[in-house]
Amino acid sequence: MATLTSPENIESEDTVLETTLRPGSFGEYVGQEKIKRNLGIFIEAAKRRQESVDHVLLYGPAGLGKTTLANIIAREMGVNIRITSGPAIERVGDLGSILTNLEEGDVLFIDEIHRLNKTIEEVLYPAMEDYKLDIIIGKGPSARTIQLDLPRFTLVGATTRLGSISNPLRNRFGSTNRLEFYEHDEMKKIITRSARILDVPIDQGGADAIAAASRKTPRVANRLLKRVRDFAEIHGRERVTKEVAREALTLFEVDEIGLEPTDRNIITAIAKKFNGGPAGIQAIAAVTGEERETIEDVYEPYLIQLGFLIRTPRGRVVTPDGFTHVGLPIPEDHQSKLL
Ligand SMILES: Nc1ncnc2c1ncn2[C@@H]1O[C@H](COP(=O)(O)OP(=O)(O)OP(=O)(O)O)[C@@H](O)[C@H]1O
Ligand SMILES: [Mg+2]
Repeated sequence: MATLTSPENIESEDTVLETTLRPGSFGEYVGQEKIKRNLGIFIEAAKRRQESVDHVLLYGPAGLGKTTLANIIAREMGVNIRITSGPAIERVGDLGSILTNLEEGDVLFIDEIHRLNKTIEEVLYPAMEDYKLDIIIGKGPSARTIQLDLPRFTLVGATTRLGSISNPLRNRFGSTNRLEFYEHDEMKKIITRSARILDVPIDQGGADAIAAASRKTPRVANRLLKRVRDFAEIHGRERVTKEVAREALTLFEVDEIGLEPTDRNIITAIAKKFNGGPAGIQAIAAVTGEERETIEDVYEPYLIQLGFLIRTPRGRVVTPDGFTHVGLPIPEDHQSKLL
């Protein structure tokens, strides 16, 4: 279940919001300076040589701006983007029809590329490398392979799990880019920009409070801003100040640093039931009643980023800051577990 601060896309609600708020150029895209610089050079060089841009892999936690970047890449190159995802490509024929319908220079964006199945991946290799598509016609002894030439396209792949991508696939990307969590000031910029577009009166203190509770993640920031705006409207507050924002967020059970009850449950469970850890992910899932994948993709990345949890070869361990945040004493022998 997606909750208020979950960085995953909550279909109906977020889709409208995201199309309105999605930056359309590198200029509007806040932060991720290193990636913008690298891709900017890549794109400029390709334009000068009148070639397509080399394939680009984007990875990092949900909601940090991968899909947005893919769209910007296409726009800056002045080409069309075709959007699909790993799980949507079920048969080789699906990929074949996507590839043969591309035009010279187009961007093909494959979201959740780690979920492509093996057979399809193998068809993708020659397409990425030589712009060739091998198709088998007929069945049995009379079957033969024909090879089609494809237009030169740029594959942009996105994933939250770099570790789940096979080496042969990974090696075929010209650049691999990791999206980072955003700094506080960057989050404030994003919130201020979104507030301007949505016509929400907000002051510095309001932007600060929402930025601090947004898990360093733009998607969460936009969602919280919208909820706080609704709260302010219903309660007749003219602008979003620090007080208004905190009042609303407290009502939604989001604390100052963006943690929800589930985050605190996870920390408390490891602290109490496993004496601070190490605890295996399955065991944590069992005692908290959350799905393993949800813990790994939604909750844990931010808890690790905050330094409340660490991952060791033997499992997850709560840090002293983690204990302190949920108001529990740090066990005496705990230091040794953090090594
Ligand atoms: N750098 C940024 N500057 C301003 N807004 C941003 C930025 N990155 C993301 N956003 C906002 O956050 C929303 C979510 O971003 P996006 O959909 O690109 O994330 P994502 O990384 O593709 O997430 P997922 O892994 O769930 O697919 C966008 O609609 C956009 O409004
Ligand atoms: Mg996306």
